[in-house]
Amino acid sequence: MCGIVGYIGDREALPVLINGLKRLEYRGYDSAGVALLRNQIDVYKCKGKVSDLERFMGDAPHSGNIGMGHTRWATHGEPNDVNAHPHTSYNGKFVIIHNGIIENYARLRERLKERGVHFKSETDTEVLCNLIGYIYENSEVDAEMAVRLALSKVVGAYGLVVMCVDEPDKLIAARKGSPLVIGVGNEEYFLASDATPIVEYTKSVIYLNDGDVAIIRKEQLILKTSAQDVAVPKVQQLTFDIGEIDKGGYEHFMLKEIFEQPQSIEDTFRGRVRADELELHLGGLYEVLPQLVEAKRIVIIGCGTSWHAGLVGEYLFEDLARIPVEVEYASEFRYRNPIIHKDDIVIAISQSGETADTLAAIKLAKEKGALVLGICNVVGSSIPRETDAGVYTHAGPEIGVASTKAFTCQVTVLAMMAILIGKKKGVLSTERYHDLIKEFIKVPAKTQRILALADHIKKIASLYQNVTNALYLGRGYLFPVALEGALKLKEISYIHAEGYPAAEMKHGPIALIDDKMPVVVVATKDSSYEKIVSNIQEVKARSGIVIAVVTEGDTVIRDMADHVIEIPEAENVYATLLSVVPLQLLSYYIAVMRGCNVDQPRNLAKSVTVE
Ligand code: AGP
Ligand code: GLU
Repeated sequence: MCGIVGYIGDREALPVLINGLKRLEYRGYDSAGVALLRNQIDVYKCKGKVSDLERFMGDAPHSGNIGMGHTRWATHGEPNDVNAHPHTSYNGKFVIIHNGIIENYARLRERLKERGVHFKSETDTEVLCNLIGYIYENSEVDAEMAVRLALSKVVGAYGLVVMCVDEPDKLIAARKGSPLVIGVGNEEYFLASDATPIVEYTKSVIYLNDGDVAIIRKEQLILKTSAQDVAVPKVQQLTFDIGEIDKGGYEHFMLKEIFEQPQSIEDTFRGRVRADELELHLGGLYEVLPQLVEAKRIVIIGCGTSWHAGLVGEYLFEDLARIPVEVEYASEFRYRNPIIHKDDIVIAISQSGETADTLAAIKLAKEKGALVLGICNVVGSSIPRETDAGVYTHAGPEIGVASTKAFTCQVTVLAMMAILIGKKKGVLSTERYHDLIKEFIKVPAKTQRILALADHIKKIASLYQNVTNALYLGRGYLFPVALEGALKLKEISYIHAEGYPAAEMKHGPIALIDDKMPVVVVATKDSSYEKIVSNIQEVKARSGIVIAVVTEGDTVIRDMADHVIEIPEAENVYATLLSVVPLQLLSYYIAVMRGCNVDQPRNLAKSVTVE
């Protein structure tokens, strides 16, 4: 995801663009740029934040009443000056800014190169820009039609704005899969990825729908649908004020990121889970797939939440791909002189891609000759540069220190890997492979349904905001989810919480049970369901308090537990993704009720770049 802004009217465009980009910087901040259209198009862009762009542009006046700006969250091509947006077509006719992913960019680029088109950047966006320029140059069409024809050849997601030097009185915007909002002023229009940069100028907005194309002149907006029918724009009134922006109307980044999970899982699917073909594609692993299929052992390393994702990975790879897995804290792995064989595969998991212990563990694994893969969220960060190959989670920027959407996207990537490798190894039948993909595709919608339970979870949180201890239990795939739920609670509410395999309770933790400590049990229907029902009974027999995450319609545990949170039915592989969401919300609401600094908890940092 990234931040897009545009302006056309009588104001000086640059201040509107810069101000807007600063309001969108939370959406992505690895590079920034603007384009101003006068009798020519001037582009200014550089690596870094919007403030770096301002310094880069200097104090010289940059006049112009039409322009656009972009603050990037890289998906293709590392953060640098060349890969920054806006991009200009090879023939200088078009300038584009884009939010999203062009999945078939590689093939389009090859075909354009065969026709003599040259490229400057590594991005998928420049491919789209050059495709528009090529169509415009080789067909008798205007700018709008060149954009439409190019988009008809594109597979992927976009929210984009285009300017054409031959038509210097308009902006052309299009949306499919990535948000784009138009602010309606008095003979002026504003464009942005969300309403936050617009609300200070106007509260009248038009939310573009997928397939919409808008041709925007300062005195006229023409909105067309994907069928090229002229649509009557639906102008809505914004209900929030400038004070609530930056977090998109949410009180905290953490809550926003919890609620972004249906979208972030979709974005992590994009181009990889092919619903039509019922196939999985992980381009970043193509070259190493044979080694993964032949792997005798996988060692997963990470810290904190990423380590919890690694534990889910252990269940996934052993269950679906039948490969032995060990999961290690990176900080332990790096110092204990581990035994690593040359045919071992090491997978490093990290949201930030900068965690010092994980980086050091990667270096050690490479010295010992292992193939090292990375699962990271920040494109171009240190870990992707250190590893031999990898898969990016497309969670978008995760600002809240407590990791939420990054975790579910990490598990999403691990599940895709395990399913793909299991199929390639022949240990996963085609039928099971297809069933898993069909179920996978339903996860975002099921996650959305869980988010609708937020008020119910908030009520439960209000009853336990003053406890001093909590125990989280789970079995099998859901044991790592219990650990993750405990970590969420302790790191943002400062309540001591422990996660345990449910069966382990009788080996010690059961001594803790009393009528003051909530026991959160992840007890969705799976092969060990009967066992976890017994564990709940053991807690209740000792006057314990049980908050259970259960499968919708579960009446057995509902009659036993003090509180139940019912989530949609899903098999184990995906119950991990779904069952963590109530635990994220529970910890968030308890922390807020305790007056804790949810986005920046005491003593913590978003990226632990020190040892
Ligand atoms: C998780 O909520 C914490 N913020 C922390 O445990 C985090 O997961 C850990 O520091 C690892 O960070 P990374 O994923 O960026 O490597
Ligand atoms: N895929 C484009 C790039 O990597 C756009 C990324 C974004 O949405 O910021 O440049």
